[in-house]
Amino acid sequence: MSNLKAVILVGGYGTRLRPLTLSQPKPIIPFCNKPLVVYQIEALAKIGVTTVVLAISYKPEEMAKALEPYESKLSVKIKYSRESIPLGTAGPLSLMKKLLQEDSPDSPFFVLNSDIVSEFPFSDLLKFHYAHGKEGTIMVTTVTNPSKYGVVVYDQNSGKIDKFVEKPKNYVGNKINAGLYIFNPSILSQIEVRPTSLEKEIFPAMAASGQLYAMELHGFWMDVGQPKDYLIGMSKYLSHLQENDQEVQTLASGPNIIGPVLIHPSAKISPDSLIGPYVSIGPECFIETGVRLKHCTLMNNVHVEAHSWIKSSIIGWHCHIGKWVRMDNATVLGMDVSIHDEVFINGAKVLPHKCISESIIDPNAIIM
Ligand code: GTP
Repeated sequence: MSNLKAVILVGGYGTRLRPLTLSQPKPIIPFCNKPLVVYQIEALAKIGVTTVVLAISYKPEEMAKALEPYESKLSVKIKYSRESIPLGTAGPLSLMKKLLQEDSPDSPFFVLNSDIVSEFPFSDLLKFHYAHGKEGTIMVTTVTNPSKYGVVVYDQNSGKIDKFVEKPKNYVGNKINAGLYIFNPSILSQIEVRPTSLEKEIFPAMAASGQLYAMELHGFWMDVGQPKDYLIGMSKYLSHLQENDQEVQTLASGPNIIGPVLIHPSAKISPDSLIGPYVSIGPECFIETGVRLKHCTLMNNVHVEAHSWIKSSIIGWHCHIGKWVRMDNATVLGMDVSIHDEVFINGAKVLPHKCISESIIDPNAIIM
């Protein structure tokens, strides 16, 4: 399995995760105290991937700086393939033909969307791909409301994909594209250097020629590319840690903790606060007495003063929350936001460096 390679598509603008992505590109946004894309790099390194190519179209320096420590930690080479214009989800692969075929011209390679969290069963995916012997395999996951998604229709025994149905009005199945793929290098000759979509252009053509298979992903999965889904993904990941014997000790415990809760060792938490379930607290946070946190993420260096109540919210880096503040309903605070005492925020998105002194009731408010 040596010389295995993977491509992670990191070139999107991450508009749905604003205001967080105004300060950092989505792949390095903290998720349970680690950059989001690191979960994927770790899982790839674990099954023997030696080179990960990040397909990027803007801000490569910032991402390279954030990910550099993981190269030696995970013994994996992280390379960057830069597009001068965004090439969509397929176009970037055509730019890196040489890189992908270097040393191992016949070896299949993984391709991942960067905003997915999952257990990443890449070893099973590789085995399944070799077993059917065709050009590509995509992982699929089960959803309860398939009419919102592109549904993958395939033979349940062999996995051979019949067709893709975008937002079906009538039920055709409940399996959707999970954003995790493996392809043989032969696919590269079918993709040109121009903006091209894997999902809309390349996959339907591969399915029509019988070259694309689906493998069901078991375990948790979430696309965390928007705030509500980020919070659902966080809950699923923390539950996964709680159920896993080797990981459970990474979680916090104590009389003021309702698990699962993840707290960075450098955070200071008053024993008179009540934290959880489903809370992630980043480095250098300071949580004062009487604070109540549930189903929320605090990135690094957030200070929450006494008796504030925060639920279903994402609090960006370096925010300051006053006393008796109440926040709910997928509120997102960008970097370095300050909230005055007694303010209520009901789902607003607050841009970086703002100071909020009055309550915001409108859940669709964007505070610029
Ligand atoms: P939104 O702006 O919030 O829709 O996010 P996004 O731009 O990341 O879009 P989306 O979630 O649909 O993208 C799926 C994956 O493809 C993500 O991992 C993106 O980073 C990546 N991606 C989207 N467009 C491009 C592109 O033009 N170039 C590259 N290299 N990656 C892309």
